[in-house]
Amino acid sequence: MSEAEKRILIVDDEVEHLESLRRIFEREKYQVDTAVKGKEALEKLRQKSYLVMLTDLIMPGGVDGMDLLKAVKALGINTEIVLMTAYGTVETAVQAMKVGAYDFITKPIRRIEVIRTIERAIDRVNLMEENRRLKEQLKRFMGDGVEIIGSSPALARPMEILRQAAPSVATILIQGDSGTGKELFARAIHEMSGRSGPFVPINCAALPESILETELFGHEKGAFTGAIARKEGRFETADGGTLFLDEIGDMSPAIQAKVLRVLQDGEFERVGGTQPIKVDVRIISATNKNLRREIEARRFREDLFFRLNVIAINLPPLSERREDIPLLARHFLEKYCRKNHREIKGFSPRAMETLITREWRGNVRELEKSIERAVVLTRGEYIEPGDLFDEIPLEQDLKGEIRVPFGIPLEEIERKIILETLHRTGGDKKLTAQILGVASRTIYRKMGQLQGENDNEPENSEDSGTDGGEN
Ligand SMILES: Nc1ncnc2c1ncn2[C@@H]1O[C@H](COP(=O)(O)OP(=O)(O)OP(=O)(O)O)[C@@H](O)[C@H]1O
Ligand SMILES: [Mg+2]
Repeated sequence: MSEAEKRILIVDDEVEHLESLRRIFEREKYQVDTAVKGKEALEKLRQKSYLVMLTDLIMPGGVDGMDLLKAVKALGINTEIVLMTAYGTVETAVQAMKVGAYDFITKPIRRIEVIRTIERAIDRVNLMEENRRLKEQLKRFMGDGVEIIGSSPALARPMEILRQAAPSVATILIQGDSGTGKELFARAIHEMSGRSGPFVPINCAALPESILETELFGHEKGAFTGAIARKEGRFETADGGTLFLDEIGDMSPAIQAKVLRVLQDGEFERVGGTQPIKVDVRIISATNKNLRREIEARRFREDLFFRLNVIAINLPPLSERREDIPLLARHFLEKYCRKNHREIKGFSPRAMETLITREWRGNVRELEKSIERAVVLTRGEYIEPGDLFDEIPLEQDLKGEIRVPFGIPLEEIERKIILETLHRTGGDKKLTAQILGVASRTIYRKMGQLQGENDNEPENSEDSGTDGGEN
């Protein structure tokens, strides 16, 4: 800790006492300011920032330690307060801690004790400060309602990589199923990178090859019929910033080759041009395909993969981080209430239960859509399951058949049937259990297994293998 960071204020009406404390802390390399009156202390607190104020509790002349404490709290000053009390005023000190003092020490003051206490108080200030900074950092890269929500262990690793890798220029490949937050992460990385240029996204799956090519690299005037003017490509637009190549797994081989060249040489030509153009672009790409499999099938260049995948972020499906669902749900509820000028207090317990247990094939995006829908539809103060989905399951949802492909293992069949039944009942486990003729507990247990793949229990007593339509 640098010395500038160890600034404290000591307040005591007994000058001798004050000076001896000053000496103790100056020897410990603290920067010490002192005050003999409460009023004077208050002035100093307003002008400078101190990590800790060590103050006498009882002081004559208007402003005492308790008043200082209350003033600090009322003014929202980030200074921890340690009180010194004489025997007999301990009760008041305890009272002070309820109001927010960090600690108190009783007189006579012992050197070791007072140093330790102040050190602990400083640790606490630093910790709070660190938390605040982290939070602010997270807020900052979010701006405008874009925020990465989640505190699950499954999301911890991606978040950590995000924080570490953002300021570098390394390419990042984000993989994850649809709706898991790939674009959100890409934007966050860009925001945190401190790069001054823009964030330029392009969806490689949405455009036919020839258009994608001119979109990425631009074209010269007259490059082809209809090219009446020179056009700048996304690589140029993103100069100094970040180019986000979304759905990279769908890029054609010819374009893969051109992108590879930019990554290798940092330059390219516009379509129909001969002049090499140099750009400073950070590339983030994303896909919900398994690129290794694409490489094996020779649809994706391995050399390009290695260039794109310097840093890998894998976003887990929502079903692997269900503990984040309540947080996400709250977040989306607030977002859409704001947007729609509605006031809804929250989710009914049953609605929350449905949210937490649902399959969420569309991941966070599907969750967000359900809540948006519910905000619009809800009549009451709390969202109910029926507001979230197109159900209370319709009669026909509970009829018909569940198709299972030939040749898949029994265990997989069971899994499919449970998930599909849950889906059709809108995540209603009781009803699902009833339909499948097992105890609800079994469904909970199986759901647990479905999530935490491979914690096999040998037992397999339940039925449900082949039927599914009948109820
Ligand atoms: N952790 C999260 N916190 C808050 N919002 C999230 C989170 N993850 C995803 N979202 C929101 O969910 C929606 C889908 O996210 P995003 O578009 O980033 O997904 P994606 O992985 O790019 O999906 P796709 O593969 O379908 O393009 C967005 O509205 C996004 O803001
Ligand atoms: Mg996307």
